[in-house]
Amino acid sequence: MLDTYASLGFSTVVATPHVTIEDIGYQGSISDDLMRQVRPATTAFSISIQRAGEIRLDPGIAAEPHLLRGYTLDGSRYLLVDFSSGSWPFYAEDTLFQIQMQGFTPILAHPERYGWSTDQRYLATDLVSRGVLLQVTLGSMTGTFGKSAAMNARALLQAGLVHVLASDAHGPGTRLTAAGRGIEWTIKHYGEDAIEQFLIDAPKRILASEQVGPFVPAHRTGWQSTLRNLWPF
Ligand SMILES: [Fe+2]
Repeated sequence: MLDTYASLGFSTVVATPHVTIEDIGYQGSISDDLMRQVRPATTAFSISIQRAGEIRLDPGIAAEPHLLRGYTLDGSRYLLVDFSSGSWPFYAEDTLFQIQMQGFTPILAHPERYGWSTDQRYLATDLVSRGVLLQVTLGSMTGTFGKSAAMNARALLQAGLVHVLASDAHGPGTRLTAAGRGIEWTIKHYGEDAIEQFLIDAPKRILASEQVGPFVPAHRTGWQSTLRNLWPF
């Protein structure tokens, strides 16, 4: 994974193991021992690893904020959160609000994969206006998670509702190699500026607990404007 990250030009990787409500308080992020074990490899590839978690949202998840604090992105105020793919549970908005009330800024992972084929479809504009950040997976841009996710990812980007892009890699396989194609796709359609914003500026600001706004694409072609009208964000 480090080899691929280095070849794609990454210098920092934030490791975000999945954390459920059952894990909280029992399983932290990456242990000190594991960090020590990987250090020779990270040094060899000149990549630094930061620790965090990807919190599976649940109605009771915000009850113990002191436990959630151990999973923020490198100790910042940002907390990466998700629901299971294909769903948008009835408690989604309320749980995100509870997280915010505890002083965290939620970054919602892979919004392009939630409830788009069901009546539970959420409105991304509502989430963004309420201060939730959206993190789209790079591989989604080029279809790694199917046509629907690709359409949604591209439309979210086009609508200026994306704050940050991420590999969401779980190993050295498909998702990680797809990240490279996602970067190429984004450069081709939105230029180097977009990648600089999504993969350099926004992540830096997040790790420093600074404010991050969504990136509004500078150029919109005719078919992309049409697509935007078809998808009511
Ligand atoms: Fe996830």
